[in-house]
Amino acid sequence: MNTPRLTVIGTGYLGATHAICMAVLGFEVLGVDVDEQKIARLASGEVPFFEPGLPELLTKALESGRLRFTTSFEEAAAFGDVHFICVGTPQQKGSHAADMTYVDASVGALAKHLTRKALVVGKSTVPVGTAARLTALVKETAPAGDEVELAWNPEFLREGFAVEDTMKPDRLVFGVASAWAEERLRAAFEPVLAQGVPLKVTDLATAELVKVAANSFLATKISYINAMAEVCEATGADVSDLAEALAFDTRIGGRFLRPGLGFGGGCLPKDIRAFMARAEELGVGQAVGFLREIDGINQRRRARTVDLVTELAGGDVAGKKIAALGAAFKPDSDDIRDAPALDVAGTLHRMGAEVTVFDPAAMDNAKRVHPELAYGKSALDAARDADVVVLLTEWTEFRRIDPAAMAAVVAGKSIVDGRHALDPAEWRAAGWEYRALGRP
Ligand code: UGA
Repeated sequence: MNTPRLTVIGTGYLGATHAICMAVLGFEVLGVDVDEQKIARLASGEVPFFEPGLPELLTKALESGRLRFTTSFEEAAAFGDVHFICVGTPQQKGSHAADMTYVDASVGALAKHLTRKALVVGKSTVPVGTAARLTALVKETAPAGDEVELAWNPEFLREGFAVEDTMKPDRLVFGVASAWAEERLRAAFEPVLAQGVPLKVTDLATAELVKVAANSFLATKISYINAMAEVCEATGADVSDLAEALAFDTRIGGRFLRPGLGFGGGCLPKDIRAFMARAEELGVGQAVGFLREIDGINQRRRARTVDLVTELAGGDVAGKKIAALGAAFKPDSDDIRDAPALDVAGTLHRMGAEVTVFDPAAMDNAKRVHPELAYGKSALDAARDADVVVLLTEWTEFRRIDPAAMAAVVAGKSIVDGRHALDPAEWRAAGWEYRALGRP
C-alpha cells in the first residue's frame, strides 16, 4: 500500500515534535491546531517552547516542503490518510480525572469531514476505554462511517529528549482493532521500525493502559527512593549512597531512582491521579490505591525542602533573602507545569521570605505565573546577599557553580541541594553549610 499522508492534530509539545520529526523522516505532514497564533509561529519556523534540537529540525522540515500547518479540520480531513490526535488531557479543575474536552472536540471536528477511508490514531494520554468510546463517536459522525477506524499509539517521549525519543523510541505500541489499522500504522512508522525499534501490537484498551502504567511505575520508583530518604533522615543514613548501592542490582536499576524534590510536570502527577480516578470508576480503585501514597510521598518532599530552608534560615524565613535556583520542573525544559521548584519558591514567599528566582530557560513562564517573586539575571545575581540558597532544578550550569564564587556574593553560606546535584564535600570545603534531603 502507499505511503500515508499524515496529519497531526494539536501542535503542543507532543504534536509539534511528532509533526516535525515525521516530516524530517520523509512523510508529507499537515499540522493542525485551533490556536492561530501557534500555527503562525510554527509555520514561520519558530518552535513555541524550549526543546533542544527541535528548532533546527523545524527549519529542515519546512525547507523540505513536506511540513505545512493549518487551522482547518476540513483541509486536514481532505489531506490525511492517518490522523494523529495529540491534544492535551489536563487534570480537571476540582477533580482528579482527566479533562477530555480537547480530545473529544478535535476528534469530533475532524470526523465530520471524513468522507473517505482513514485511520484516526490517538496519542494523547487518556483514561482506559476512551478509544472504544471514540470509535463509536467517529463511526457515527463521519460521512464515511465504518470506513473510518480508530487506533491507539501511546507516546513515551520525555521533555528535553523529545527528538531522540521520537526518532528512536525504546518501543512502539500499536493498539488496533483490525489488520488494516496495523498495516497503516506500520506504514506510518516505517522509518522508525526499520531501525529495529521493538513493536508491541495490542488491543485498544491495553495500548491506552501501557501509557498510564508506565508513568505510574516511573512515579512509584521516584517516590520509593524518596520514601527511603525520609527513613534516612530519621536515622542519619545517606539516601544517595543507598540509591547507588541499590542500582547495582540489575533487577532494580539506577534510572529514575534519583532522590530529591520529587516529580512534577504536565504528566506524572496528573497521570497517576487520573489513573486512580478511572480505576475507581471501573470498580478497581483498590488495585491502584498505592498511587495515593506515591502522590503523598511526592508532595511531602516539597514541604520537607521548605523545612530545610527554614532550618538554615534560623527557624523562620520571614524577612530573609532566599535564592531559588531553578523554576522548570526539570532541566533542559522551560515547562513549569506543577513544577516542584516554583511550588517551593511560592511557599517560601508566602511565609514572608524575599525570594529571588533564576532559571536558564523558564524565566518568562515563571514570571507570568508567579509575578509576586523576584527574578535574577543569573545564578550569582539571584544569590546576591542571600541568607540561604536553595537548588531546585538540576541544570548543568548549577552543577558547575563554583562554591567559592557564590560564597563571595551571599550573606550566609547556607545551601539546600534539593536535587542532590552538588558535591557536599566540595561545598563544605568552601565553607558552606550544605544540606540535602535524606543526607546527613
Ligand atoms: C514523563 C515520562 O518520563 C515520559 O516517558 C512520558 O512520555 C511523559 O512523562 C508523558 O507522559 O508525556 P517528562 O514529564 O518529560 O516525561 O519528565 P521525566 O523525565 O519523566 O521527569 C518527571 C519528573 O520526575 C521531573 O520533575 C524530574 O525532576 C523527576 N525525577 C525524575 C526525579 O525526581 N527523580 C528521577 O530519578 C527522575
